Amino acid sequence: MAEALQKPIASPAPAAPATAAIAAANASNRPQLTDNQFQKFATIIYDLSGMRFEANKSYFMASKLDNRAQALGLKGFDDYLKHLESPSGRTEYGFLVDEITINETFFFRHEPQLQYFREKILTPLLAARRAQRAPKFRIWSAASSTGDELYTLALMLKDMGQFGKDLQFELIGTDICHDAVEKARAGVYRKYNVRNIPPALLQQFFTHGTEATTNSETWTIKPEIKSLCSFREDNMLDSNRTTLLGKFDIIFCRNVLIYFDEKSKEKAITNLANNLHDDGFILLGHSENVYSQRHIIRPDKTHSAAIAYTKAPPGTPKY
Ligand SMILES: C[S@@+](CC[C@H](N)C(=O)[O-])C[C@H]1O[C@@H](n2cnc3c(N)ncnc32)[C@H](O)[C@@H]1O
Repeated sequence: MAEALQKPIASPAPAAPATAAIAAANASNRPQLTDNQFQKFATIIYDLSGMRFEANKSYFMASKLDNRAQALGLKGFDDYLKHLESPSGRTEYGFLVDEITINETFFFRHEPQLQYFREKILTPLLAARRAQRAPKFRIWSAASSTGDELYTLALMLKDMGQFGKDLQFELIGTDICHDAVEKARAGVYRKYNVRNIPPALLQQFFTHGTEATTNSETWTIKPEIKSLCSFREDNMLDSNRTTLLGKFDIIFCRNVLIYFDEKSKEKAITNLANNLHDDGFILLGHSENVYSQRHIIRPDKTHSAAIAYTKAPPGTPKY
């Protein structure tokens, strides 16, 4: 089985649905936001999630907000704004965040990073923890979306024969989007999400089926892997919540910082660093730029290909 992981199916990444979704929304004949409405909604969304939408996403946002206004039977954007600003509007916050978040993800998303991570970071860190007689090895997928990233790490550990030995594992995924967390807990995936999983792992750890209503193919993760992972709804910018998660050996935080402005990014990175053991690693996506946060975390030069970061030494000044 280890062999299977070394040779993933080579499949070019299709166009990101997030981009397709934005293009589709732009092309639709749906109502558009005025500049004033856009600013108000963008501020609400920013306050709820830390995600900063610029004016070029106005069409995308209009289409998403229109979905919510229609679902509530409201006439237009002004009514939806009034609803959000009213005392009863608080119950709508979660639905708005669910609607606006871009949950694009899939298993074995960035194979070169994963391979490097497995060989150069995970393997030596596991050996170090065993030498230290650590009781537990903890991994956090921050912004885990529908769980693909965390389950990928569970599959990797399984493939490495790590379970059922002296070291216990705890794998936790968190996301602000309620729907995504529910989907992660359900563990049922479409072909798009599983297409990069090495065939031997797909066959061994998923049940292939058909969804009754749509007749689409599904792959359900087996309890053997599912039971290794837990998911919860959390805003990673809320330090009161992230502190409760405790310290981790490894944190994956990929493809979410790109939606944050500098202020949100600083909050997010501070929270991640606070939840990381001093000799732990944070793995980011390759388009994530955290140069201005180098007083908190810095690239681990020995592992540059893995886009791995470690904590900056205590007392490192802000540049
Ligand atoms: C593009 S997905 C990335 C999923 C996965 N990490 C990956 O790289 O495949 C971004 C996720 O970030 C989540 N997100 C956005 N803002 C967040 C926040 N403030 N706290 C936690 N999750 C957030 C979204 O709900 C979405 O599921």
